[in-house]
Amino acid sequence: MDGQPQMNRAAGADLLRRGYNRRDLGRIAALLGVGAVAARPTWAAAVPGPAPRVMIDSNECWTGPMEPGQAAARAIIARSNRYEPGNERDKFIAAVMKADGVPADHVSPWPGSSDPLSRAVVTFASPQRGLVTADPTFELAWTTAEYLGVPIKKIPLTADYRHDVKAMLAADPQAGLYYVCSPNNPTGTITPLDDILWLVRNKPAWAKVLVDEAYIHFAGTPSAVALFGQSEDVVVLRTFSKLFGMAGMRMGYALSDPANIAAMQRYDGDALSGSLPLPSLACATASLGQTALIAQRRAFMEANLTFVTREVERRGFKVIPSRANMFMIDWNDRLARQMRDAIRKQGVEIGRSWPIWPNVSRVTVSSRAEMIAFLNALDRALKA
Ligand SMILES: Cc1ncc(COP(=O)(O)O)c(C=O)c1O
Repeated sequence: MDGQPQMNRAAGADLLRRGYNRRDLGRIAALLGVGAVAARPTWAAAVPGPAPRVMIDSNECWTGPMEPGQAAARAIIARSNRYEPGNERDKFIAAVMKADGVPADHVSPWPGSSDPLSRAVVTFASPQRGLVTADPTFELAWTTAEYLGVPIKKIPLTADYRHDVKAMLAADPQAGLYYVCSPNNPTGTITPLDDILWLVRNKPAWAKVLVDEAYIHFAGTPSAVALFGQSEDVVVLRTFSKLFGMAGMRMGYALSDPANIAAMQRYDGDALSGSLPLPSLACATASLGQTALIAQRRAFMEANLTFVTREVERRGFKVIPSRANMFMIDWNDRLARQMRDAIRKQGVEIGRSWPIWPNVSRVTVSSRAEMIAFLNALDRALKA
């Protein structure tokens, strides 16, 4: 063994059949073997220089895991000498079944949702069957597709910031994967289920529709799980990194037809999905059904979003109406990159911008105190 990740024969044959070449197999094995992400993700990268006091750049939660989750995680540490002291993975799947109303064979746990997102690109797209996404949207699918030589089509959002599903299909009617992020990162806007259903009904027979619902608990809108009865080609992704405040604990899951789950697990994903840290599993299981705490966090976020939006608009900048813990500010004729630097100098780290909108920055909704700190930093940056 040379320490390189290995790929089993069936997985290799499947990739070759779908148009990857032998050189790609090594790259895919390396990609998935090291955790599915091509490089350290830029959205999680360390910020150069002294740490700003206020970090509102990565859409993390303003507070940690819910107390029942923390208690469950603490309790299981003492029993973590065992691989499976109490079937924690099965308990987690049971909690998902209850929360999402799906059978056990539709659930696959992952360490966060980055891995299954990258993995879905490998599994359902290829050099011959492209990837179609909105623009702007969460870029990880682009990064993975670029790395693998999968053709990408990026379609601007509609005027009201939905995914333009008709334009997405028209851009590549032969694609392997259509990625819908709802609420969308970075706009926080919703693509209605009817639009997603239209895409599901009109896509080519072989294609999958991947619906990334990382922020859905903040919006409280209906999940694309409701479409499972209509099609076996919908894959839904969830994460505990956002409303549940568990970004560093790495927990997420995919929901889909068992055949899609098996296909995504083919590239050694069985091992990864089956070896999640017990404290993370226990914390997620104990948090998922906390409907009152979920509603409380949503209400807290909404109040702070309304507050900060009003204040930013009062200063003469347009804010895109968001349903999630982020909002986008149009700086008019100023460059987002320059505004980010100017605000960083005032001790506050805001989010990035997207090439399609160079004058628009994403900012994470945090506590009222951090939103006030942001507004003060903005005022100082505008005067500097
Ligand atoms: C839309 C979306 N999907 C997926 C992820 C991946 O997050 P994680 O791997 O922590 O679940 C993120 C992270 O910011 C995101 O914004």
